[in-house]
Amino acid sequence: MKKDDVSEMSRRTFLATVSAAASAPLLGAAGAPALAMEGGNPVRSTPLTTNYEGANFIGVEEKTELDEAVETRSLFRFYGFTPPKKARTFEEEFQNLMGVKYALGVTSGTAALHVAINALGVGPGDEVILPAETWHSDYNAIIMTGALPVFCEINESFAMDPDDLKRKITPHTKVIMPSHLSGTVADMDRIMAIAREHHLKVLEDSAEAIGAIYKGRRTGSIGDIGIYSFQTAKMMTSGEGGCVITNNAALYERAIRFHDLGGVRPVFQRALGITDYPRGGQGTEGDRGGETTLGLNYRMNEETGAVLCAQVRKMETALANHRRMHRYVTDKIKDLPGIHLRPSNDPEGEIGISLDLLLPTKDLRDRFIKAMTAENVTMSVGILGTRNLPTMGYIEDKVAPHPNWPSFNTPRGKAMRYGAACCPRSVDLKNRYASLYIGPKWTDDDLNDVVSAVTKVHAALRS
Ligand SMILES: Cc1ncc(COP(=O)(O)O)c(C=O)c1O
Repeated sequence: MKKDDVSEMSRRTFLATVSAAASAPLLGAAGAPALAMEGGNPVRSTPLTTNYEGANFIGVEEKTELDEAVETRSLFRFYGFTPPKKARTFEEEFQNLMGVKYALGVTSGTAALHVAINALGVGPGDEVILPAETWHSDYNAIIMTGALPVFCEINESFAMDPDDLKRKITPHTKVIMPSHLSGTVADMDRIMAIAREHHLKVLEDSAEAIGAIYKGRRTGSIGDIGIYSFQTAKMMTSGEGGCVITNNAALYERAIRFHDLGGVRPVFQRALGITDYPRGGQGTEGDRGGETTLGLNYRMNEETGAVLCAQVRKMETALANHRRMHRYVTDKIKDLPGIHLRPSNDPEGEIGISLDLLLPTKDLRDRFIKAMTAENVTMSVGILGTRNLPTMGYIEDKVAPHPNWPSFNTPRGKAMRYGAACCPRSVDLKNRYASLYIGPKWTDDDLNDVVSAVTKVHAALRS
């Protein structure tokens, strides 16, 4: 059965069981506990709070790493009083974790996107396809190259819909940019097959899914180049920070140059196996060999590298814990009639930071969220940490850094219309999803409260 059939069946089942839901009272059937929003006792007496992922695990290990870096007083990653090593150590450990040849630390996920998209050689006249539901930085990075962003619908997995992706490809398409949102995984087999068939490059945004696995490979490592964010809400964090990964030496070199004013310092020359790089005046570890091309400064510093060294070593434990919690809750609610858990492109590999329920209508979704929140188990609209970009004002208005910006000055750029009409299915899905971030340190009692609240609200809404 196809996912859409599942959705249609679920919609009919749920609608049948909640017929006339809009007018029915929300109090449960005889004997069912009354909903808190109708004056009943809430499942919990205090709100179940979720907070930042990796930040929960910041402890003595991060402090030790940071102290070591500060004690050297050498916080610039390439040279100082003593040879700095935290940023480089982090890169080496992260590339091992992700199973790729090269990792380049940068200052943020947005910086990583800017670096990666420049490494891919995207520029004016090119089109880049991104999902309608993702984060601002994807769209903004495309605009900053002068290329034209083209939105593609998401499907029920809340990731890029490969069928719509095919429809969005034109002779101007250069890159496909799938996003793995809130710990989930996009359908990379189909996306990669489409990309290869059309000779397109793939930039994977795995900012929100650090450590997730798609069919045995880490997200971010499957396409030509991938990015991560280490902002405070992410699975690993240094407050701010980001990383670009790739297996492609040419892309790695272009990324290095763009992130560091156009040059390749000795630490990266060694990583690339370059032995005949032109030396600059100094001949030291800080020597970029002359500014050979254009680039900006997105370099990671030693403090960031130090914190990330500690965080990367905690990843597997944090991931296993999240997967266990997610499985515990979903196993207990998956058989409730009409409850439609978000279908996954690889259930084993997802991180499980978010419990996502797809309801038949927006009205029911809104009532579900209101009822859950009153039970002190707060749910949110859509899936947390994502935006329906085409409906954002600045995007609908095609705001650019300058009136003559190239993105919107090609015939296709001028004709491009964003807004809800360009992604009706994504808008509809966002309107029917309710999601709950699973806190990294929740106890079994907390998880049982989630199950109780979902079961209670579900029963009441069916009555
Ligand atoms: C999907 C996605 N991509 C990119 C970014 C950008 O990362 P940063 O905030 O580190 O710039 C984020 C940040 O939240 C994100 O969620």
